[in-house]
Amino acid sequence: MDTENAQRWPRYARSQRVLHWLIAALVLGALVLGGTIGWFGFEGLQERFGAAGTDRIYTWHKSFGVLILFLMVARVGLRLRHGKPPYAMALPRAQRIAAESVHGLLYVLLIVMPVIGWWATAAGGYPVQLGPLFLPGLFPENEALSEVLFGWHRALGIAITLLALGHIAAALHHALVRRDGVMQRMTFGGYRS
Ligand code: HEM
Repeated sequence: MDTENAQRWPRYARSQRVLHWLIAALVLGALVLGGTIGWFGFEGLQERFGAAGTDRIYTWHKSFGVLILFLMVARVGLRLRHGKPPYAMALPRAQRIAAESVHGLLYVLLIVMPVIGWWATAAGGYPVQLGPLFLPGLFPENEALSEVLFGWHRALGIAITLLALGHIAAALHHALVRRDGVMQRMTFGGYRS
């Protein structure tokens, strides 16, 4: 790595970049599987994919969500440890505030969302799964509360989708239009001079 360029184009620590892309892939998977569940509903899924297929969709969805929760905790730890690199070129104030708000909300929602999913699942008397493992429910059964929490889970799914789309659009704008090194803070390729 070229030290002069590394100073000119500062980046997040490698561990932070790895977690960013891993969590991004898992969130995409959780949203697609969750969206499929929401779209078809339990009975619709059974008609279309059969009992075993439906079971797999739920298990994969819950597993992705639980992994997101664990990885997000690690990510917050890494952020506290390594902080955030400076920008190569100062961002206009409004853009900086918008970026920080979206990033902050994504951090909070990607922790709150899986906790609500876990809580709603356990409160409904369903198993909390990570692949073949059955994790402790942690929350007592309460059917009425489970329904309310699944309502929140749905609303937050929409909020996360919108925030993620805004985040991706901004990243592409920096990479393709402004070409100001912002995207490279989170990528792995060589430095541009
Ligand atoms: C960031 C992580 C997560 C995301 C983005 C996410 C997203 C979603 C979305 C969009 C839906 C569809 C909601 C609807 O339209 O009704 C859904 C449903 C569901 N999620 Fe999650 N989820 C996450 C984590 C979890 C976790 C950790 C669990 C449990 C361990 C879980 C359990 C469920 C269940 C059981 C449903 C189906 C609810 C129903 O049958 O009405 N989710 N999720």
